[in-house]
Amino acid sequence: MCGIVGYVGKKDSKEVLLTGLYNLEYRGYDSAGIAVKDKDKIEIIKSVGKISNLENKIKKEKVLKTNIGIGHTRWATHGEPNETNAHPHRCGDIVLVHNGIIENAKELKEKLEKAGEVFKSETDTEVACALISHYYKKEKNMKKAISLAIKELTGSYAFAILNVNEDKIYATRKDSPLIIGVKGKESFIASDIAAILEYTNQYILLEPGEIAEVDSNGLIVTKNNKKIDKEIVKTSLSASSNDKNGYEHYMIKEIMEEPVLLEKMFENNINNIPDISRFSEVHIVACGSALYAGMIGKFLLEKYSHVNVLCECASEYRYSNVAYPKKTLVIVISQSGETADTIAALRKAKKEGAYTLAIVNVETSTIARESDEQFFISAGPEIAVATTKAYMLQVAALALISYNSAKQKKLIDFDIKEDIRLIPKLVKDIIDKREEYKEIAKEIYEKDNIFFIGRLIDHAICLEGSLKLKEVSYIHSEAYAAGELKHGTISLINKGMPVFAIVTDDDIRDKTISNIEEVDARGAKSYIITTRETKLKDTTIVVPKINPFMQPLLVVPILQLIAYETAYLRGCDIDKPKNLAKSVTVE
Ligand code: G6P
Repeated sequence: MCGIVGYVGKKDSKEVLLTGLYNLEYRGYDSAGIAVKDKDKIEIIKSVGKISNLENKIKKEKVLKTNIGIGHTRWATHGEPNETNAHPHRCGDIVLVHNGIIENAKELKEKLEKAGEVFKSETDTEVACALISHYYKKEKNMKKAISLAIKELTGSYAFAILNVNEDKIYATRKDSPLIIGVKGKESFIASDIAAILEYTNQYILLEPGEIAEVDSNGLIVTKNNKKIDKEIVKTSLSASSNDKNGYEHYMIKEIMEEPVLLEKMFENNINNIPDISRFSEVHIVACGSALYAGMIGKFLLEKYSHVNVLCECASEYRYSNVAYPKKTLVIVISQSGETADTIAALRKAKKEGAYTLAIVNVETSTIARESDEQFFISAGPEIAVATTKAYMLQVAALALISYNSAKQKKLIDFDIKEDIRLIPKLVKDIIDKREEYKEIAKEIYEKDNIFFIGRLIDHAICLEGSLKLKEVSYIHSEAYAAGELKHGTISLINKGMPVFAIVTDDDIRDKTISNIEEVDARGAKSYIITTRETKLKDTTIVVPKINPFMQPLLVVPILQLIAYETAYLRGCDIDKPKNLAKSVTVE
């Protein structure tokens, strides 16, 4: 979603801001802008659409070379994507960019209008800007003005703020991440480290309520007017982590990384798997693909560890009236660790006294820091909006956790160590058959509707296969529990309609095969992904049979590649599908 970058130092600020904004493109946005400060003047340039439009405008308007500036990519929430609504916003002496949502913007706006403030945009951000400006006019002190303003704001925010009278950037946040990169006397403000990796890998994390003042002498952080010594964190990521490595898209590059990442992840965690066998009830909560990874975990835990698992999307869970019996474990899953609904679900679980385990990629994220225990999947930066490698590693983490739980409870007597050794190679072999999946893509890319069917764990895999296909190719697609088809949806099956069927669970194999026969009888063109041949004449991809915990890992890459190839043939913007954001930091 929205991204923030800011710079104070000796470089030309517009260059640093543009680099940062290009690095933040992956988060999803629909407009962008920068503000650069020179002496007593602040120049604001905004543009709708791609960062390249903004870059052209900056060149055309011969924007000044200055050493201080802030920039923003906006993913519209309040008001359509246009230049007026794009950030930065200016009210009086204050210029500001914002990530998050100000929930009481309407009430504050009415109050400020009564006090004479005039608004140009439809955004909640302009209201925050006006509020700071309002207090600045009274107090003539930026830190005071910011402190008074944030006391009145409800919702989430990360702000980078300029004042036309000062050669400084102020920054503060609540429930939206913000870091400050440091390199000698240069400072870089960013909503995520990817924005500034070209310049530094060292940064501090700003905590809620802290105010950072950044100028050419460096950085001061205060809370309630008291100076705070901040720890400098160093990331092992580098600017090359953002490269496509010769691939045409990040999505395909990230799928290709899966075998190596799985190998590393197993190696790092096999002797240190969280033991959840002591819990008598488990809730798994997440959004999007992470939720569908969670559903795989649900079926594995229920079947092999004999524990009840509620698996729900975080946006529902956070408002639900679910009960928390004693010994309830809540597993939250999130690549970014910053998904607003998942954070809210985690906080609810903690408030209710549940123990929380996070399966998370970004180690410095809110979810990683607020959960009781963490399983880091170590996928590295994932740039394509539609997750692939992080989802695979989430599934692998859940496989390890479910296996360990069943083993601790002595409910299974087989070992998966040998399979773990084999998995990276098996996944690579599957990915290497990319040409086969391209052929399937050629058959389906002009279709309007596609179904995915499967039962239990195979249904969970279908949900992700269908999501991946629809998000990158824009083909309407549904995943169905195979047995539910007859209760309505089968009426949509027409001649030639593609139906993908996943059949890996032997216990329900025959049942799903019958469902495939039913759709075939109505003219569907079925594609079966299974662990052994069937008697059916449909196109069939047979994957090696492996232990049930790891089996989904041999099916998922096929679905990811079919989605990729299909979107490719349709000429879609694969890494940045329309309307989607990588990290959904608002509710
Ligand atoms: C967005 C992304 C998805 C992701 C979901 C959850 O919708 O486009 O790919 O699965 O958010 O994100 P998280 O960072 O919490 O895993």
